[in-house]
Amino acid sequence: MLDRLKALEASALSQIKDATDLQSIESLRVQYLGRKGKLTAILRDMGSLSAEERPKIGKHANELKNRLEKAFDDYLAGLSNRASGQKPNPIDYTLPGRRGYAGKVHPVTRIYRQIVDIFLGMGFDLAEGPEVELDYYNFEALNMPRHHPARDMQDTFYIDDEMLLRTHTSPVQVRTMESRRPPIKVIAPGKAYRPDYDVTHSPMFHQVEGLMVGTDISMADLKGVLSVFVHAMFGSEIGLRFRPSFFPFTEPSAEVDIMCVICKGTGCRVCSHTGWLEILGSGMVDPAVFSMVGYDPEEYTGFAFGMGIERIAMLKYGIDDIRLFFENDLRFLNQF
Ligand code: PHE
Repeated sequence: MLDRLKALEASALSQIKDATDLQSIESLRVQYLGRKGKLTAILRDMGSLSAEERPKIGKHANELKNRLEKAFDDYLAGLSNRASGQKPNPIDYTLPGRRGYAGKVHPVTRIYRQIVDIFLGMGFDLAEGPEVELDYYNFEALNMPRHHPARDMQDTFYIDDEMLLRTHTSPVQVRTMESRRPPIKVIAPGKAYRPDYDVTHSPMFHQVEGLMVGTDISMADLKGVLSVFVHAMFGSEIGLRFRPSFFPFTEPSAEVDIMCVICKGTGCRVCSHTGWLEILGSGMVDPAVFSMVGYDPEEYTGFAFGMGIERIAMLKYGIDDIRLFFENDLRFLNQF
């Protein structure tokens, strides 16, 4: 019996030593010292001992129990000392990291670049002009003399009598023709300004102007170039149509509609049940404009067009309020 007690002590002490946490030490305590534990099991056999042996073994068993209890207590004290004595690590390596914020390209910029890419692919060059423009380039040279009623088509931010914020990118046509001789094949993307503010108008917006001038440019060229553009931008299944219109600087003039990108022409709320959506203004350069820049209208012909970039972006992404583009709401912008 003494041997059994010794063996029990040895195995208990070695298990205590190997215990790693509070839970395993508590379950060891129950295993060895509990009412149904190993020590109790041994003591239950004391009845078979002789009268001299019994008190001896009993004393041993008691001392053993005390030693084990002390071992358990010491171990627990060690655990809590270690826990409280340790300086807390200020960095919790198990927390997930904070994600860096990667910016995104603004939807207007994306469409702007797509449009430019399509025309560069057709061999157009880039041209540019100032946003603070002379009245002369914005209106007069485009066949809209002062007090011409057509100026009312475009409300204007004037800076003084001579200067304004350009109301369209068309003045770049004039600047380009003034500084070069045909053949000319350019697009001029950029900002334009008009005092308007509602779901389809913003005081600052973007346009892309197109201009092609040569000795033999016809309306068929205009139609071909714009067809390639529309198919590249919206898909080859999207048809387009030319609708007679008026601009002082083109003759004849046409507005271009594309098949509604939402309903594919069957009619819906977006296209007011017409099946068509207007996307740009265009026409053959008016001879009066050629004369203003010193080109012989008998020698040269050309086409021009101008489209709103936000308008294209709204159709492409199904956005129904232009002002969303300029509110810098990340919940909106993050969707692109
Ligand atoms: N400048 C015109 C506008 O802003 C569009 C246009 C450009 C029309 C070139 C014809 C030719 O409405």
